[in-house]
Amino acid sequence: MAGLAHADSGFSLTRRLWPWRDTRIFIIQNPMQKFTLSKAVFPVAGLGTRFLPATKAQPKEMMPIVDKPLIQYAVEEAHAAGIRHMIFVTGRSKRAIEDHFDTAYELENELEMAEKHELLALVRSVRPDNMNFSYVRQPRSLGLGHAVLCAEHLVGNEPFAVLLADDLMVGPPGGLSVMAQMAAQFERLQQSILAVQEVPLEQTRRYGIVAGEVISPGLIKVHKIVEKPAPEAAPSRMGVAGRYILTPAIFGHIRRQATGVGGEIQLTDGISSLLSEETVYALQYQGKRYDCGSKEGFLEATVELALQHPEVGQHFRQYLNGLKLG
Ligand code: UTP
Repeated sequence: MAGLAHADSGFSLTRRLWPWRDTRIFIIQNPMQKFTLSKAVFPVAGLGTRFLPATKAQPKEMMPIVDKPLIQYAVEEAHAAGIRHMIFVTGRSKRAIEDHFDTAYELENELEMAEKHELLALVRSVRPDNMNFSYVRQPRSLGLGHAVLCAEHLVGNEPFAVLLADDLMVGPPGGLSVMAQMAAQFERLQQSILAVQEVPLEQTRRYGIVAGEVISPGLIKVHKIVEKPAPEAAPSRMGVAGRYILTPAIFGHIRRQATGVGGEIQLTDGISSLLSEETVYALQYQGKRYDCGSKEGFLEATVELALQHPEVGQHFRQYLNGLKLG
């Protein structure tokens, strides 16, 4: 990965000579250094206007699919990919997310006293001991690119994942989660990777669309990426889903962006600029995406995951079978 060095690498001669200096500027790079993904950024500072009034005072990402908030699905997906440091870019009305991943002292105490051990274990499982959580505020919803830039000082000079919790991703039955599929490709490629899926032509306006060359089954070397093109201007039908692995070079490219589509600083424009410096891949992932930022996608996810739920699935199936749908 050109231009990238690990700040803790044994090759950091500068750090040993001048430990107080900024190693990001003075490190001697080791081109053979291999990176493993350890950090994930969750931008959760959007306004969620498509779900008003539900999102007036509570985060969209805390809305549950059956019994688990959207953000927890995304954190579990990152955890399953081996990531242990979760970084949230939050905003106003998003306190519930911090509380969800914090210790719930009173609740845990009550459950312990009542000897409700299963529930206690469930509550504690939300925050495993081997995970770290960091939070940074995005002062205004200036776009996804801007939200990612807000996390720069927490990410540092290493590659990182980005997960948009309102895209709920379910891996194939018995297979790897979508982020785990991407992390496996990253181990090999050591370059930025975007999750993509084929989208209907009439829906290209909802996605970042990539075009490029297929280099192996499901893997595309990206030549071009465009934010929300009209169908007639779309370079392909490959739409970016809300999962990214990015190298830290992206920060400089986002910083150089003017506002784009919708008056926001777009991550897509930053990635488009990154293409001039580094190779970017797109992975056609295995699994299913539910667009839970939209009412239709949220309802589809609720019905499908409820049908698979070990506690309520069977009853819910009977209930649906009994409905006389006109
Ligand atoms: P969306 O555009 O889907 O979310 O952004 P939104 O703006 O909250 O929703 P609507 O369109 O008004 O209903 C995708 C993700 O990026 C985050 C959102 O929280 C969401 O998870 N985001 C978006 C930010 O963190 N900051 C922003 O400025 C914009």
